[in-house]
Amino acid sequence: MFAAVLAVSCQESMKQLTDRVFEVAEYQFTEMDKTLTDTNVPKSTRFGVLVPSETKSWTSGFYPGSLWYVYMYTGNENTKVLAEKNTEKLYIETQRVRSHDIGFMVNCSYGNALRITGDEKYREPYINAAKLLTTRFNPTVGLTQSWNITPSRKQWKFPVIIDNMMNLELLTQAHKMSGIDSLLTVAVTHANTTMKNHFRPDYTTWHVVDYDPETGDIRMKVTHQGYSDDSAWSRGQAWAVYGYTMMFREVGDEAYLALAENIARMLLDRLPEDGIPYWDFDSPDIPDAQRDASAGAIMASSFIELAGYTQDKALSKVLMEMAETQIRTLASPEYLAEKGRNGFFLLKHSVGSYPSDTEVNVPLTYADYYFLEALLRYNGKL
Ligand code: GLY
Repeated sequence: MFAAVLAVSCQESMKQLTDRVFEVAEYQFTEMDKTLTDTNVPKSTRFGVLVPSETKSWTSGFYPGSLWYVYMYTGNENTKVLAEKNTEKLYIETQRVRSHDIGFMVNCSYGNALRITGDEKYREPYINAAKLLTTRFNPTVGLTQSWNITPSRKQWKFPVIIDNMMNLELLTQAHKMSGIDSLLTVAVTHANTTMKNHFRPDYTTWHVVDYDPETGDIRMKVTHQGYSDDSAWSRGQAWAVYGYTMMFREVGDEAYLALAENIARMLLDRLPEDGIPYWDFDSPDIPDAQRDASAGAIMASSFIELAGYTQDKALSKVLMEMAETQIRTLASPEYLAEKGRNGFFLLKHSVGSYPSDTEVNVPLTYADYYFLEALLRYNGKL
């Protein structure tokens, strides 16, 4: 009893934890910038050394976005300069559309720049990117196409992945700024069609649903990054709960809130005690399977937001408890990098694509971004 009381009273407060993590983040990301050129951004590491990517990578918006989040918390003008510089590297990505990922790229970079500074110079490129995303919309299918058909993806005709829910925020936000109704129509239609076709009765989601672009018929429901077509790939589940929570915030449709609540209940039932999911909830290697810190960070951020919307008080309480558990685990030495280590990323132990043995047990720029977002949300700053 005495030991338990002592443990609680000695526990680092969430404010202390947040200060500590942002201090590490500011150091890491400032050092990271020194390794970059005028045209690249960080993506991951190989053998512990930072691997950058061109801005065309789907992950290119997360580093500028993380810098904006650090600036938001610390108010450090040097970080703002880095955030501006790394955001502007992505200007070219606001002028062309290569996949649905334009939403991730531009909303995290230009979107945060605009929301945090209010500087008008970010507005036109942001709205332009949203208009470009709608060119991927097929009204017969009622969705924007995720990936293009390339030689390695020729088995599909019109693939849509659950991750694509995340790109809708670019459309809803640009609609609010511009008043262009088609941006909202595309976002809502995409969310409604995904709600109808992507979910199983237990509220897990398929990764890929492929459609016939001529008829809108479903051709197949499969996985690309998960363990099997029938399994629950963890990051896909994270994108789903985040996506519908975000769409409820953006348009207020109660059906989106109900779906987000049901996905969250399923996740709360299945997450390990420390809150960080195995890379796939159905991996046969559990409990020895690889964890995915990125999925844990995305879930923590969306759980905090969802806790503020749900009318189910018991659910709200357990969502906040789970988010705190996830944050505490990610801020522990097991996951949080020491200053100067980990290729200057913040978090260790994420998984890009386990089936293709790409980026397994490495830092990933989006894990850092959503972890910082979770901390900002937990502290009422977002
Ligand atoms: N959107 C790609 C991923 O989550 O890996």
